[in-house]
Amino acid sequence: MNTRTRHVTAWGGNPARSKSHGSLSEPPSGHHPPRRGSPAEANDMQPSETSFISKRLRIPRQAAVRERDALTRRFYEINATTYAEATWRLSMDELLSNFTARLPSGATVVDLGCGAGRDLKSLADRGFFAVGLDVAAPLAHIARHRSDCPVVIGDLRHLPLASERFDGAWASASLLHLGREDIGQALAEICRILKPDGLLFASMKAGRGERADERGRWFSYYGVDEWRSLLEDAGLAPILLESSVQSTGTPAPVPTAWITSIARRDS
Ligand SMILES: C[S@@+](CC[C@H](N)C(=O)[O-])C[C@H]1O[C@@H](n2cnc3c(N)ncnc32)[C@H](O)[C@@H]1O
Repeated sequence: MNTRTRHVTAWGGNPARSKSHGSLSEPPSGHHPPRRGSPAEANDMQPSETSFISKRLRIPRQAAVRERDALTRRFYEINATTYAEATWRLSMDELLSNFTARLPSGATVVDLGCGAGRDLKSLADRGFFAVGLDVAAPLAHIARHRSDCPVVIGDLRHLPLASERFDGAWASASLLHLGREDIGQALAEICRILKPDGLLFASMKAGRGERADERGRWFSYYGVDEWRSLLEDAGLAPILLESSVQSTGTPAPVPTAWITSIARRDS
């Protein structure tokens, strides 16, 4: 396995911090005020009114997860056009070549979280049968239009795709939006749709923990060893695992730590 750390600049693989998203910087308008009677509203009450509420009262976990995912999805839905323009010209050639060189010619590849379809189009241009998937319908439509490839609207945790159908899965900066408790399920799903010996490319943000950014999108961060274990637990053997600091975003690139990985499904 090739595990190394390198420092490069000017890879735009993380659209997330691009300053050219200036107009994206407003908080998502889909942020709902708390519903009447919700714990959040209760927390706004005067102390005398809250004395009966247990300190352990929390928004139920599932509801919090749904709200978190909805905010991330809404960001991409609301900002689809601006996001497409901001990310379309980023060059992914080196990473794509590293991945596609390991695929059989004419392979079937799915771009998971394809965004506006930049990489989907590149995969098709390289002669692969490429299919896109994204949870944000407006981005999925842009991707379909720009790449001329089939694009399905779907969630990384429940892929509406046939089992053992794909030679490759490309997940550029998309799995990082799942909560840490969901990543195992998503990797298991990817394993299910890959043929034996099929390959997954995934780029993730390096670090620890999980949190929302200033725009409301959820991000999970992993260490290299932790990411390797997650891949292995899902039945995906890493054949390349690399961490790097890349300056992403224009006009003022921000150094961001990334993990890029290619893993092979156990046969
Ligand atoms: C940072 S963007 C990356 C887009 C594209 N892969 C690229 O590299 O430009 C993350 C993408 O993942 C999609 N996404 C986020 N959560 C998702 C989910 N649960 N299921 C499917 N797609 C999701 C978003 O809609 C968005 O298009």
